[in-house]
Amino acid sequence: MIEVLLQLQDEDPKYYTDQLIKSFVLNLLTAGTDTSTATIEWGFSLLLNHKHVLDKARDEIDTHVGTNRVVDESDMANLPYLLCIVSETLRMYPAGPLLVPHESSDDCVVGGYHVPRGTMLIVNQWAIHHDPNLWTDPEKFNPERFEGLEGKTRDGFRFMPFGFGRRSCPGEGLAMRLVGLTLGLLIQCFDWERVGEEMVDMSEGPGLTMPKAQPLVAKCRPRPVAGSIFT
Ligand code: HEM
Repeated sequence: MIEVLLQLQDEDPKYYTDQLIKSFVLNLLTAGTDTSTATIEWGFSLLLNHKHVLDKARDEIDTHVGTNRVVDESDMANLPYLLCIVSETLRMYPAGPLLVPHESSDDCVVGGYHVPRGTMLIVNQWAIHHDPNLWTDPEKFNPERFEGLEGKTRDGFRFMPFGFGRRSCPGEGLAMRLVGLTLGLLIQCFDWERVGEEMVDMSEGPGLTMPKAQPLVAKCRPRPVAGSIFT
């Protein structure tokens, strides 16, 4: 991407200044790193607290990928349950809980409220994702609820972990592949356990990407397939 930006700079140096390129790359790095890692950490914490889901995901990977090679990006389409886990994680712990502030480009009416043009609008997608009028048992981790919608990142306006419209997340495709593949590799290559009897602490900490209050700590043992990474 930097190469492309530098080529564009050759063509139009006045617009593509060093400063513009730097802020563009920094924006992508900051918007893309914490969000993806937080989602992976939440997802894995949920799996450790719901062993039957972890076992079902591992069975799916063993059945469709086997134990002689590790899962790769092209396997994602054959791992619908894993994609349901990613969606359910993004529903319960969206890394952009308030999206980013938007501004109304015209006068409009939302939910009966008149919103004048130029108003800053903040969408509380966390509340929508947890609304009992829209979801059955919203506090329950239930990846099966996404069966039939595997890997879809929108469901009307009730599920929108990457936002909506022209300013929605441009890293959505990359993020879905990255989170799915990382969780898939961790599930396939290691047997996992919580460090003790207690459940993993699921408290939310402060911060724009809604990180965990307590970092995840877990025990793992490599499975034989992990050896194929080094051969
Ligand atoms: C699980 C991971 C991710 C989640 C949950 C996420 C979520 C979001 C959300 C909710 C927004 C605001 C959309 C709106 O207000 O309508 C956003 C914006 C953005 N995201 Fe992501 N994102 C993720 C990963 C990434 C990655 C990997 C990249 C880039 C490599 C990225 C780059 C951006 C950028 C540049 C914006 C601002 C777009 C704009 O203002 O036009 N994100 N993201």
